[in-house]
Amino acid sequence: MATPTILAIGAYVPPAVLTNDDLSQRLDTSDEWIRTRTGIRQRHVAGADETTATLSHAAAQAALEAAGMPATAVDWILVATDTAEMWSPATACFVQALLGAERASAIDLTGGCAGFLQALTLAEGLVARGHTVLLIGTEVLTKAVDWSDRSTAVLFGDGSGALLMAPDGAGIYPRTAFSQSDGRQADILNKPYGGTRHPLTPELVAGGHHHTIHMEGRKVFRHAVHHMSEAARQVLAMAGLEADDIAWVVPHQANQRILDAVARELAIPPAKVFSHVAYYANTGSASVVLALADMLAQNLIRPGDRLLSVAFGSGFSWAAQLLEVGSLPPARFLNRDR
Ligand code: ACO
Repeated sequence: MATPTILAIGAYVPPAVLTNDDLSQRLDTSDEWIRTRTGIRQRHVAGADETTATLSHAAAQAALEAAGMPATAVDWILVATDTAEMWSPATACFVQALLGAERASAIDLTGGCAGFLQALTLAEGLVARGHTVLLIGTEVLTKAVDWSDRSTAVLFGDGSGALLMAPDGAGIYPRTAFSQSDGRQADILNKPYGGTRHPLTPELVAGGHHHTIHMEGRKVFRHAVHHMSEAARQVLAMAGLEADDIAWVVPHQANQRILDAVARELAIPPAKVFSHVAYYANTGSASVVLALADMLAQNLIRPGDRLLSVAFGSGFSWAAQLLEVGSLPPARFLNRDR
């Protein structure tokens, strides 16, 4: 079997930024409330002409250019997203057309905020069989929030990240992984309307029911801390490692308080838990790969480092992934802050 390798990373966030102060002009909220409850200061927001496919295309193109590889070399395009371009076909098909990746097979995976790490496990299987894979995590969550609901509208941002993966190259190696779901908790965090259970009708829309996010924040918080910590412990135990062996935890960026609580649970210094939630907010399936791209841009990662990525989201689903840095992959992050 070939060794799956992350050869290059691309990332894209839309240029438009919405600050907490901007939000407080249109919602009954404040910079102080948002910062102290979540750590978020701003989020990047897709423009009217930007969609899940255009963001994905920008990130994927950046990864291919960083690696110097043509799109025609790609065998599979996987897009992890909960904010698809359309119901059908898969967002990945639009991305394939935009890239001109003529040989590729294209499919989406929906796993909430843990979806990118779940999809990484599947991508590894494809690469182990000899395929070259573009694994993309993208959300345009600002088009899926109810802008009159202050308890959800302030939390999310838009962005996309792409891993170019191939057999037996130089770069970052995905090693031990763990993921699990508990579908009994589906009602706590979901987008209940617009699917086959509740197709959108004029009556539903008139009643204020759109394809927007519903969340019971406190319950999500508790489950997120518990399951992210448990998933991290599972992977450490499976790999025979201690928390001290990890150079960085690369978590899903939901909320600074969740990250601090996970650091406490794992007895890992908060300084080793990467966070940029202040700049990008919660970008769902994109957040782990945006974090990796930002860490590379900031020269925080060294060859030989072990990284432990953890994520939690709707489903509920949770996942953890050990990454070993063989050499630093080329990375491009378009419109990065700082
Ligand atoms: N601005 C001002 N006040 C607000 C806002 C806001 N944006 N949102 C809620 N409030 C008010 C509420 O109305 C409530 O007022 P009341 O006491 O008069 O009823 C008060 O603040 C407290 O509300 P809570 O929801 O109890 O506040 P909490 O301290 O739990 O913080 C938050 C809410 C930030 C959503 C928190 O529960 C949380 O972070 N949960 C995790 C959610 C999350 O990260 N979800 C992302 C998706 S899943 C994932 O990625 C892991």
